[in-house]
Amino acid sequence: MNDVRQVTARFSDGVALDIAVRDGQPVLTAALEAGINLLHQCRAGSCSTCISQRVDGEFEMESTTSIALMPSEIREGKLLTCLTHAKSDGVLDFAYESKWLDRERARKYTTTVLDVVRTCDTVTSLQIEVDPGEDEPTFVSGMYFLLRVPGTDHWRAYSAATGPTELPAMTFLVRHVPDGVMTEFVSTACAPGDSIEIEGPFGEFFLRDTDAALIMVAGGTGLAPILSILDSIREKRRNRNRILLCFGVTRYDDLFYLDELELRRHLMPQLEVRIGVAIADERWDGPVGMVTDLLKDGDGSDKHVAYVCGPPPMVEAALDRLVAAGVPREAVHYERFAPSSSAAS
Ligand SMILES: Cc1cc2nc3c(=O)[nH]c(=O)nc-3n(C[C@H](O)[C@H](O)[C@H](O)COP(=O)(O)OP(=O)(O)OC[C@H]3O[C@@H](n4cnc5c(N)ncnc54)[C@H](O)[C@@H]3O)c2cc1C
Ligand code: FES
Repeated sequence: MNDVRQVTARFSDGVALDIAVRDGQPVLTAALEAGINLLHQCRAGSCSTCISQRVDGEFEMESTTSIALMPSEIREGKLLTCLTHAKSDGVLDFAYESKWLDRERARKYTTTVLDVVRTCDTVTSLQIEVDPGEDEPTFVSGMYFLLRVPGTDHWRAYSAATGPTELPAMTFLVRHVPDGVMTEFVSTACAPGDSIEIEGPFGEFFLRDTDAALIMVAGGTGLAPILSILDSIREKRRNRNRILLCFGVTRYDDLFYLDELELRRHLMPQLEVRIGVAIADERWDGPVGMVTDLLKDGDGSDKHVAYVCGPPPMVEAALDRLVAAGVPREAVHYERFAPSSSAAS
């Protein structure tokens, strides 16, 4: 039997599109076959780019060991469409406008390393330039790219810390993880002039049109897309309302880009920056604790929109904290820096 279910995909601008999903076929595959280019990347459950919210109907997600969903998202009925099968007709909500279906497809670009800077004990800033003669990628601040570790078939996801106005140059902030393939490359081998292949853009972590006051929460290199978004706000003078940025790291030696933050604080009068260190020593006289501790009573309300980025447990804690502070759940946008599924590939 080859049952077909009708799944309605609803977008944040009110557009609704019907997708015929065959038995045994993931919703994302059916959508792509129908020319509905839902945001996606890995198609394997590890990047969470294809996330949707179940509204109606019965759906089942394939189980995998590396599902990039947080426990709270599973409870709320979030689904990764690349792994989701429709067991009845149903409705799924997507938290972006339908115009993103018409985006240019992600593609590969060759780039050359301009600069490699160890910004602190555990973070390297990698500046590359798209090679002359290549088209430049069309992306918006907040999106991410896959970078290939030169000489290997390993691809790793990194959010651009710079925006499209800086093209052909792009900067990525690479956190060092023990035994990491990219970590090893950027910290021991990478040098100006090296060629690096990138693919993108991907992701749904970008600024929605809003005049709301913003709260941004960044853990470690989660600062990268947040910086890019802040710069796009400044360049386009898009939002003059208050912006609160909370930036946290684990140890004093993990602190980086304080000068970049100071510069933005100087350029953007509406920006307040709070920085915290979880495990501090005598060199740090600022706030001590988790990045979520930087959020105080009264910071959030139902009028705020929030952007959160960092390791999955930090994102989950920030979501809870923001919702408890009164920020509507659907007004909290986030990107999780999940380990690549492939630490194998
Ligand atoms: C959408 C997206 C955007 C991302 N953007 C960024 C970014 O801008 N900057 C950034 O630093 N990272 C980012 N990440 C995370 C980054 O892709 C991984 O941390 C990266 O794959 C590590 O690469 P590696 O080759 O050094 O380590 P791997 O070879 O991939 O891993 C080595 C070992 O470390 C573990 N590991 C890998 N990553 C992590 C981690 N984050 N935390 C704990 N353990 C880990 C692996 O399980 C493995 O055991 C992003 C991830 C996603 C999904
Ligand atoms: S495309 Fe579904 S999790 Fe990556």
